[in-house]
Amino acid sequence: MNAAEEAYRRPRQESALLYERARRVIPGGVSHTVRYYPPYPAFMERAQGGRIWDVDGNSYLDLWLGHYTHILGHAPDCILEPLRQALGRGLNWGHANEHAVELAELICELVPSARMARFCCSGTEATMFAARLARGFTRRRMILKVRGSWHGPSSDLAVAITFPFEEPESTGIPPETQQFTATLPFNETEETLKIIDRHAADLAAVILDPIVGASGFLPPQRGYLEAVRQATQACGALLIFDEIITGFRVGLGGAQGVFGVLPDLTTLGKIAGGGMPIGVVCGRADIMEASTPILQARKQTPLLIGGGTFSSNHLSMLSGLAMLRHLRRHADTFYPRLAAAGERLRRGIEWAMAESGIVAQCTGYGSLVGVNFPRVYDVTLDTPWKVHAMTSNAAYGDELRLRLMEHGVFAVHGGGALCTEHGDSDLEAIIEAYRLAGREMVEAGLSVARPR
Ligand SMILES: Cc1ncc(COP(=O)(O)O)c(C=O)c1O
Repeated sequence: MNAAEEAYRRPRQESALLYERARRVIPGGVSHTVRYYPPYPAFMERAQGGRIWDVDGNSYLDLWLGHYTHILGHAPDCILEPLRQALGRGLNWGHANEHAVELAELICELVPSARMARFCCSGTEATMFAARLARGFTRRRMILKVRGSWHGPSSDLAVAITFPFEEPESTGIPPETQQFTATLPFNETEETLKIIDRHAADLAAVILDPIVGASGFLPPQRGYLEAVRQATQACGALLIFDEIITGFRVGLGGAQGVFGVLPDLTTLGKIAGGGMPIGVVCGRADIMEASTPILQARKQTPLLIGGGTFSSNHLSMLSGLAMLRHLRRHADTFYPRLAAAGERLRRGIEWAMAESGIVAQCTGYGSLVGVNFPRVYDVTLDTPWKVHAMTSNAAYGDELRLRLMEHGVFAVHGGGALCTEHGDSDLEAIIEAYRLAGREMVEAGLSVARPR
């Protein structure tokens, strides 16, 4: 056991006991792979504002925020209040309800390319259904996605997420299932266009998150999204923006609002549900209409997206509505303030790590912050390939996480997201935690990232 692990274990005895219990009944003790980290995860019991507390009473400034969902911080009154009232009217009704109509209307008002929307229960379902919808609508088979991007673990899209991108991401998926999914290099326009061209005749859609979340929140270079938009249009394929992280986070209109490129379909999740489970497929009316259940009623083969016992349950709809209404009301001040805080954190972490003797390069956009440890001098980390192949992120991730937790910060993949409840003193505390964690890593003899 190394020093970081030892220091981690001492104040987390309740979590250790819970982990032992959990492992007997839940494989690996968790139900989402990303929630496991060695030696065992801290089990959480309470969250408020920008903080979360574990069962041992340790408190953390939370950069994870429920997988980047809680942009207003944990448990905001503007969402809890309508939910409390709604609980008195029952749980999942399993019926059409007015709140779903209102949320669809609001999404169509705010997301520039959305004319119609359909709800499901998770982002994974939304991207899976968007791929199905694209194939059904175009009557073509190929889906292209970005190497190093995560759209959830559905069999079609769990391709080339981790480096080396050529290896399968999971057993249990027959290669035939993924034979109609291929990959593109993000931010490499020429190569991307060649691949689109190669598949043009059978290309149903390109799906991408315009700021690649899984590889350190990498924004698109100027012209990249425009080129993909033009190439897909030219060959009759659809463009799907996966805005499950970026939707309502980088601006009220998501990344498509910021970068001014409109996709045919958009997937949303996380913030769109205000903290309750949700997935959304939205986009052009002619495409969305292809999924109407009315076909089924007429005994025609439907384009089956949706289903789901809990889809459009009134609690998720109400909490999404409360979130989006709040964001709409405060957008003018809210997004610039969050973006400034994100920039301050990116530069502050780089500076604090440098003081400790570690070269860190922060990627990200707005309130999304990626922290990377380049192994190569003078590299600009602007593609998932560079982030995976030219950094020591994988080697330092676990150690950094444990040491940050010791200093009261919870980060996943080295960084995370900010919420409106993170004030100036919280930003200072987060930067100081990185400085201390960095210094300890150097003192522990970790061969830290230094330029060659
Ligand atoms: C870009 C992106 N797409 C899809 C998903 C899957 O969403 P969910 O975890 O709600 O199934 C995620 C989850 O983190 C995501 O970041």
